[in-house]
Amino acid sequence: MNRHSQKQRGAGYGAWLEYRGLKGEAAQTKYCRVIAPQERDIVMETAVAELARGLGHLFGQGEAAIVATTGSAGLSSSVAIGLWGDGTIVDELFRGTALPEPGGEGYAIRTDRETGGIAIGAASPIGALYGVFHLLRLLGTGRPVEALELVERPVNPLRMINQWDNMDGSVERGYAGSSIFYENNAFTSDTERLSDYARLLASCGINAISINNVNVHRHETMLITPALLPEVAKVAALFRAYGIRLFLSVNYASPLEIGGLVTADPLDEGVREWWRSAANGIYAAIPDFGGFVVKADSESRPGPFDYGRDHADGSNMLAEALRPHGGIVIWRCFVYDCKQDWRDRSTDRARAAYDHFKPLDGRFLDNVILQVKNGPLDFQVREPVSPLLGAMERTNQIIEFQIAQEYTGQQRHLCYLVPQWKETLDYDTHLKGEGSTVKRIVDGSLHGSRYSGIAAVSNIGSDDNWTGHLLAQANLYGYGRLVWDPELSAEEIAEEWIRLTFGGDERTAAVIGKMLMTSWEIYESYTAPLAVGFMVNPDHHYGPNVDGYEYSKWGTYHFADRQGIGVDRTTHTGTGYTSQYAAPNRELYEALESCPDELLLFFHHVPYTHVLHSGKSVIQHIYDTRFEGAARAEELKKAWDSLAGRIDARLHRQAVERLAGQVEYAKEWRDVINTYFYRKSGIADELGRKIY
Ligand code: GCU
Repeated sequence: MNRHSQKQRGAGYGAWLEYRGLKGEAAQTKYCRVIAPQERDIVMETAVAELARGLGHLFGQGEAAIVATTGSAGLSSSVAIGLWGDGTIVDELFRGTALPEPGGEGYAIRTDRETGGIAIGAASPIGALYGVFHLLRLLGTGRPVEALELVERPVNPLRMINQWDNMDGSVERGYAGSSIFYENNAFTSDTERLSDYARLLASCGINAISINNVNVHRHETMLITPALLPEVAKVAALFRAYGIRLFLSVNYASPLEIGGLVTADPLDEGVREWWRSAANGIYAAIPDFGGFVVKADSESRPGPFDYGRDHADGSNMLAEALRPHGGIVIWRCFVYDCKQDWRDRSTDRARAAYDHFKPLDGRFLDNVILQVKNGPLDFQVREPVSPLLGAMERTNQIIEFQIAQEYTGQQRHLCYLVPQWKETLDYDTHLKGEGSTVKRIVDGSLHGSRYSGIAAVSNIGSDDNWTGHLLAQANLYGYGRLVWDPELSAEEIAEEWIRLTFGGDERTAAVIGKMLMTSWEIYESYTAPLAVGFMVNPDHHYGPNVDGYEYSKWGTYHFADRQGIGVDRTTHTGTGYTSQYAAPNRELYEALESCPDELLLFFHHVPYTHVLHSGKSVIQHIYDTRFEGAARAEELKKAWDSLAGRIDARLHRQAVERLAGQVEYAKEWRDVINTYFYRKSGIADELGRKIY
């Protein structure tokens, strides 16, 4: 798929950039020529090459010709690309039009009515590259292009991917094979695949990537040293060609572990000097290096707490080292007591991030960004929105999603996560009155933040089709598209992905669209109920185990007994977590009467006989939804089966087994959950279905 592609790759490797949409049919006009500026930097070179290649694919004619001037044929059958003010035809074509000036990463596209030719104009090469992918997406999804007149710019400045890859080739919470970055404690030799990944990411708008696990082990600690920096620089160059900045996760204890110092105390001058010199070395190798991602004082990782300092001290020290070079520190807020005593009912893990960070508001340097997980626990199928989001007016924040399906079926079950992310982004925190949505917090507009955006844990690996489950590609694609523009609907994004991946067949689009759009709800309905969370097997987190974490140190409990279940997080009688929200959300969650059903057990401990807003008792809800969920998983399988013969057989085959596995595993979930609660409560199913 790379333009210098050497290797044979399997089905699905081309993902949504196969451009199979138009082959043979469609498109009145064939675009077979690219008119490009003669002077091109590396990103513009990519943009032009992608355009030529994409048009070639779409119109079935090999790569489109690239020419520097319009020549006698004028613009017809051509796509012209250029930058404002570069003196090319593009400049001419946009002169006098009503198009607003796009910002740094934005672009404009218009069709010349006279010739039918299309022009892509931008203020920067990266804008031009995004414009190319936009046009190819329109063509690939069969949209009309005869009268284009559009301007686009990304809503979120930082649009980031976090790889959780280790140098031994493993991927923490990776469900699609091994790392594409590393093997045997060295960098991969398959750099073509890295470029192809960069290409996929850029095509949906990603502009930043951290390339190693937030848990930084021994080998990865060395990534910032002269021994490995030349290798890191090579990877940075591959991503740079696609406008993506490279970041590294760093080990907070580096000065101690590899620097020969006796401390990593952030206030120690020797330590500060060590980091300054490390930063100088990094920027000498990679002048546009993005910065550091840091997991500190979290799940036994070292951090400033080890020296009696706080997170502002720790992150500011790193920020000072990066600042002269324009780098940033992305400091994760996933900080909680992971050695809790399960007998201690007063400690609430959900409170931890807010309790640790909120008091530090205003103390962080302006090149520090706090990265906050979407929910207060850990990427569960259902959680409330983290109350820390937006609660620190004077601090840069980004949100963290997990594209990898750690708790949502591990890419063996179908779970299209865009609806979940969208719900989070649309959530109104009311922090500055109505309309204080999470999307306005993370795009920087609510608090006027210097840095803002969204990050997510990647879901790709060395599997041929990148994501293991073919349909999980929709989550990667959807993440990029949603982050670019949070106003896009989950349906629209799904439809784009389906058409680009499988072609223009209407029935295919309808069937897969419905599968994707119902999949989150289906997954939720056979797993842990009513936002109580976890109930998974310890460590690997796959499959049902109701008490798997109940008597452990991790702080994730459901407190089920023979009378009831749920965690009392109210302010009156519980852990006080609800007080971390602004009114009226605080009151909404505090009162049993108003708490939304889907979050009930996250906020309240209730008897099994408690009646939900839906009119059902909690226990009957559990039974009904588990039975329905497992039955609906079968529907997913049937729907997919019905597409045999309609879509590429190799692609079809890839999901058949996964969906069959999901059907079986959904039954396992159903029966384990139902049986557990039947045995605990002694309350029979009203419909008398089989419970063990
Ligand atoms: C989860 C996950 C870990 C990961 C951690 C994190 O707890 O299970 O593997 O390291 O999140 O986000 O840091």
